[in-house]
Amino acid sequence: MTRPLRIGIIGTGEIAKGAHIPSYQSCENVEVIAVANRTLEKAKTCADKFQIPHVYQDYETMLNEIELDAVSICTPNKFHADQAIAALNKGCHVLCEKPPAITVEEVITMEEAAKKAGKMLAYAFHYRYAPEVMTLKKFIEANEIGEIYSAKATAMRRRGIPGWGVFTNKELQGGGALIDIGVHMLDTALYLMDYPEPDTVLGTTYEKLGNRPGVGLLGDWDWKNFSVEDMANAMITFKNGATLMLEAAFAANVEKDDVMQVSIIGDQGGADVFPLKIYQEKHGVLLDTTPAYLPSYSLHTKQIHDFVQCIFTETEPPSNPRQGVILQKIVSAIYESAKTRNAVKL
Ligand SMILES: NC(=O)c1ccc[n+]([C@@H]2O[C@H](COP(=O)([O-])OP(=O)(O)OC[C@H]3O[C@@H](n4cnc5c(N)ncnc54)[C@H](O)[C@@H]3O)[C@@H](O)[C@H]2O)c1
Repeated sequence: MTRPLRIGIIGTGEIAKGAHIPSYQSCENVEVIAVANRTLEKAKTCADKFQIPHVYQDYETMLNEIELDAVSICTPNKFHADQAIAALNKGCHVLCEKPPAITVEEVITMEEAAKKAGKMLAYAFHYRYAPEVMTLKKFIEANEIGEIYSAKATAMRRRGIPGWGVFTNKELQGGGALIDIGVHMLDTALYLMDYPEPDTVLGTTYEKLGNRPGVGLLGDWDWKNFSVEDMANAMITFKNGATLMLEAAFAANVEKDDVMQVSIIGDQGGADVFPLKIYQEKHGVLLDTTPAYLPSYSLHTKQIHDFVQCIFTETEPPSNPRQGVILQKIVSAIYESAKTRNAVKL
């Protein structure tokens, strides 16, 4: 491609302004040429700040009027599916913020739309680009961990209910801690496990701290209208026999303010990911391996640069629509299991 890649952004909130737009603008031969936001004033302020020429209130008008190569979806979860499908139908590659959407049906429709359009649909799971995750993946691919049969994913905040956006609104987000931050560590664990097919899911969710006033380390949230879970726990078994334990909380009475962690156990080795520590038995001794150096960079920027690179080189991004379906099946099954108090067989 000789002319610059033309990018459009739908939703000009925190993640668009903090990650997507500056990361695209730091790429060579890439231009963010249009933004759409339901509140036009917000779109205009964003366009002024980043010198983006075309501004829309309605994303469909943007897609109809401007020829775009790729679109980032940065809106609340409820709108991901419709907007991603509309962009794919217009022949755009799509980078959709996490989670893929709210329901499994939506994510299957997104996968079908990408297939039909022959365009890329990637989900913004930026922890895959963490140097710890990329390094451990190489150990796994070199069979140094062996068969991974057990894993744990943790996304736990002490008092980290988001005080901005609509993260506590079930209708717009589909849920709370699980679908917002739990999915990051769930995706990281599944990615390291090579996205096995889930078999059975047992989940619980709680609303204990979010619906009353309290300390807000991420700002003041609207506790009177808090309609999501502040904590979720789950056990997921897979068709290959592996097990994954998951815990996610916006707020819980724990020691640390914010823990994002994945641990894996294989028959040749195990690891904690953040920080990376690998546990093995070799030559008759038990070994702990830690990297002496890992590079430091913005994971969001790395992810967006990779998305752009995949478009330029016509290669598959690491996150694909099928994985989105598997992840969403697990998330939906956890919510269903919590509601019915029964394990869900997938
Ligand atoms: N990858 C990450 O680490 C990360 C971090 C934060 C948010 N996110 C995801 O990004 C998305 C947005 O989060 P945010 O923090 O930027 O929220 P935000 O509230 O700051 O921004 C959302 C923007 O979308 C606009 N909007 C709402 N409905 C719209 C519609 N139908 N069409 C067009 N615009 C619409 C809002 O006016 C707002 O400007 C969510 O899906 C969230 O899960 C991801």
